[in-house]
Amino acid sequence: PNATRYEAENATISQGAVESNHAGFSGTGFVNYANLAGSFVEFTVTAAAAGNATLAFRFANGTTANRPMDIAVNGAVVAASKAFNGTGAWTTWQTTTVSAQLTGGTNTVKATATTANGGPNLDYLEV
Ligand code: GCU
Ligand code: CA
Repeated sequence: PNATRYEAENATISQGAVESNHAGFSGTGFVNYANLAGSFVEFTVTAAAAGNATLAFRFANGTTANRPMDIAVNGAVVAASKAFNGTGAWTTWQTTTVSAQLTGGTNTVKATATTANGGPNLDYLEV
C-alpha cells in the first residue's frame, strides 16, 4: 500500500520550532529541534491493521555530527539512539527508516533527541 505522510509541522512538538528557512522541505515547513536532549516530535499514526511497518523519517543535518534520537512507538523505544547523521547541508534532505510493530488504529510515534545537540531538522514521517 502507499505510504501516508505525516508532516512534522503538524505533529506535537516539544522544545522545537516550525521553520521554513531551508529549502527542499515538504508541506509548509520542518521542525527545528531545540539543541538540547529531550526535545521531541510526536506523530499520531493510523494503521489499518496491526502488523509490521516501516517508519521513514525525512530530515536534514547540516553539521558533521550525528544527531541521534530515540524512536518510540506507543511509549516503547523501538530504536534507541537512532542515527541522524550529517546530510552535508541544511537544505539536503535524506530519509532513514525504522521497522516497528503497529497496532490497528491509532499509534504514537515519538522521536526524541538524546544529546545536547538536539535532533536534526525533521521534515516528515511516512508510514
Ligand atoms: C542552524 C540551522 C537550523 C538548525 C540549527 C542546529 O541554526 O539554521 O535550522 O536547526 O543550526 O544546529 O540545530
Ligand atoms: Ca536545531
